[in-house]
Amino acid sequence: MNYIVVLPAAGSGKRMKAERNKLFLTLRGKPILMHTLDVFEQDPDCVGIWLAVKPEERMIIQEMLEQYNVTKVKGMPSGGAERQHSVYACVKEVGNDAELILVHDAARPFIEPSVIKQLTQKAYETGAAIAGVKAKDTMKRVRNHIIEETVDREQLWMIQTPQAFHTQILTKAQHQAEQDDFLGTDESMLVERLNIDVHVVESTYDNVKMTTQEDLLIGEAILQKRQQEGN
Ligand code: CTP
Ligand code: MG
Repeated sequence: MNYIVVLPAAGSGKRMKAERNKLFLTLRGKPILMHTLDVFEQDPDCVGIWLAVKPEERMIIQEMLEQYNVTKVKGMPSGGAERQHSVYACVKEVGNDAELILVHDAARPFIEPSVIKQLTQKAYETGAAIAGVKAKDTMKRVRNHIIEETVDREQLWMIQTPQAFHTQILTKAQHQAEQDDFLGTDESMLVERLNIDVHVVESTYDNVKMTTQEDLLIGEAILQKRQQEGN
């Protein structure tokens, strides 16, 4: 199933405490951003990549794309103050170029091709599908450090990206959110507001977002595991 991917990469990585965009930090000598781009560069179903970037980082990213032979980037609009604005900047540029759009955090370099395949298939059939994994721990709702209830874990999923949509659904959801001044933490929230069913596809626990320093250690370990397994 052909798709285009939107990668928000215009954050500042405050929680990483690296004093620069965390996406330039390296795992096994290669910038996180390039690990993520590589997945989509290698996927024959991916027909175009849009990257939201900070204007002052556009040049250095352009150079990296050449260095790492990334050829599918079609646009690099400037990101906004919030992730949602960065994604919207790309979605506006994409127009009707593809039937399916995937939105994926540039900070998640370990997404498995098989999950992308399942997601695009599901989103193509239904309009909206997002990646998630089942919660592992016991989950409780807590207020002021006192437990209000234990929540049935069977119904709880930890949501990741990619999130895949028919292009017209995502465009409409983004537009409506802007009109209503609504800020969501993921694209699914914007689509849920339109009362459209969003399907969840089971992903892997490997698909971590490089957010804090410990995640870099986890990232190195995942790469080592994959090398030993021969991927
Ligand atoms: N992002 C973006 N535009 C923003 C904020 C975030 O494009 N205004 C991107 C980040 O570059 C990242 C993805 O959205 O690839 C997920 O965001 P997050 O992990 O929160 O990254 P940062 O916002 O950079 O980190 P922090 O929240 O710790 O500052
Ligand atoms: Mg952030």
